[in-house]
Amino acid sequence: EAIKSAISAAEAGNEEELEAYRMKFISKKSVVGELFAEMRNIPNEQKKEYGQLVNEVKQMADAKFQELIDQVNLAKKHTKSFDQDLTLPPTNIAAGGIHPLTATRQRIIEIFERIGFNLSEGPEIEDDWHNFTALNFPENHPAREMQDTFFLEKNPDVALRTHTSSVQVRVMENQKPPIRTLSPGRVYRNEAISARAHCIFHQVEGLYVDENVGFADLKNTLYHFAKEMFGKETKVRFRPSFFPFTEPSAEIDISCLICGGKGCNVCKGSGWVEIGGSGMVDPNVLENCGIDSKKYTGFAFGMGIERIAMLKYQIKDLRLFTENDVRFLRQFKPML
Ligand code: PHE
Repeated sequence: EAIKSAISAAEAGNEEELEAYRMKFISKKSVVGELFAEMRNIPNEQKKEYGQLVNEVKQMADAKFQELIDQVNLAKKHTKSFDQDLTLPPTNIAAGGIHPLTATRQRIIEIFERIGFNLSEGPEIEDDWHNFTALNFPENHPAREMQDTFFLEKNPDVALRTHTSSVQVRVMENQKPPIRTLSPGRVYRNEAISARAHCIFHQVEGLYVDENVGFADLKNTLYHFAKEMFGKETKVRFRPSFFPFTEPSAEIDISCLICGGKGCNVCKGSGWVEIGGSGMVDPNVLENCGIDSKKYTGFAFGMGIERIAMLKYQIKDLRLFTENDVRFLRQFKPML
């Protein structure tokens, strides 16, 4: 009877009833204790046998008691876990971080929005007109090859856009100057994947069309961007280049952030790294989009978001952006 109630006490985690069991079977004054005390009244020749029997009873009682203690402890542990304030804010939530490309894209947008650029987007599946023809790529011109296009259909051509310049065409077709717009987005080129190139990457295109826009405006806008993005000490260099849709055209280089311009592996010893292309919008492009090229001029630039993120965070392999290795991604959590 006592054992039964002790068991239910233990199951309920009731220490008082457990103590009652101890009093009844374990302590000096318990039944077992009394059996030991009885020893002195036992005739000498039976003492040995009697002692063995009582010891067996004591061991049984001890074993049962230990079992009950374990049960009580277990029950206590369970009650404890329910004994918490469920309204408290949780700690150590495994929250996701912001992807470094998203963070870089956001920072670029922020810098240009502050100087009056709005945002525009276009489709990733583009037609020949918006990706090439309106941008002054002559038909069968090798410049089209330069872009390593993924074609989805031929005649009429439908392709994955090879650059975000297609968005400047769409904006100019639909809006009147003044235009000051920034178009970030994903682009595709049929290139072998390596540490420095990928067939899917991101660009951000900038376009400014108004009366009297000159090359000095282009340079100053990009000087401003480079200092905001990479720090005040950053230098910008323009190198003559060619794009069918800009004239004159220039490649944009910044002083290498890794070696500070002294020369290292990343800048291949030159002290400079390329971040994109730029130039004055070719009058043919303005006319193709219905903008009077006698009245208006404009500049455009296009930069690689991966390239900018790699320089900013000193990432040496472009493939890391798409591998989704949490050991890489976790490092960007503080930007939340
Ligand atoms: N679209 C060009 C490229 O992808 C970059 C560029 C944009 C150059 C705007 C000039 C003006 O290489």
